[in-house]
Amino acid sequence: MEQTHELEKYILAHIDEEDSVLKELERETFLRVLHPRMLSGHAQGTILTMISQMVCPNRILEIGTYTGYSAICLAKGLADGGLLHTIEINDELETMAHSYFVKAGIQHQVRQHIGDARSIIPSLDEPFELVFIDGDKREYASYLDLVIDRVPSGGILIADNILWSGKVVEALDAKDEQTQGILAFNQKIKDDPRVSQTILPFRDGLMLIRKK
Ligand SMILES: C[S@@+](CC[C@H](N)C(=O)[O-])C[C@H]1O[C@@H](n2cnc3c(N)ncnc32)[C@H](O)[C@@H]1O
Repeated sequence: MEQTHELEKYILAHIDEEDSVLKELERETFLRVLHPRMLSGHAQGTILTMISQMVCPNRILEIGTYTGYSAICLAKGLADGGLLHTIEINDELETMAHSYFVKAGIQHQVRQHIGDARSIIPSLDEPFELVFIDGDKREYASYLDLVIDRVPSGGILIADNILWSGKVVEALDAKDEQTQGILAFNQKIKDDPRVSQTILPFRDGLMLIRKK
């Protein structure tokens, strides 16, 4: 346990520094917003930025804006003139997220959508070279069905929380719909011949999926 903590500190000391806007956003989220642990945080944020910079997408789709932390990290990799569409069902988070998009100077690169991703995705008529799935765990498989045909060959999807605090390997509680949702998604990816995938066992587990 002690060594894990030391390693976390070591990792944070040797990756890119968190910029001041992201630091402020993280602090305000922990002070003012319910369930602040949902925020990606610094180490995961650098992974999202790095992947986005490698893909250099024209269009990014994010499902689950929350307070905007991961959106800011992902937007750092957008191609010139690129756009990030981010969807959030909780309208109480819209103003705070927007204020940080302005502070980060990316408001012109972000389209915020408020509502259920399952009804909004069909209205977004664009190809997405990068998709970040981080909404309701019970709906991951539906998000996949809605976006997969929009992702061009070589496009990347990232799904967060796919180890779900280790519950994916524990005895399943029949009432636990979130774990069931994650298990169904992971199996659906495994069985889908259109994609290849790997898992980063980092934090709560990130699935990296590449459309063939
Ligand atoms: C884990 S948080 C997202 C964290 C954020 N991506 C980050 O890393 O900072 C999940 C968010 O998804 C939102 N959400 C849940 N179901 C949704 C849906 N059907 N459509 C859009 N957003 C949804 C929740 O309200 C919550 O804010």
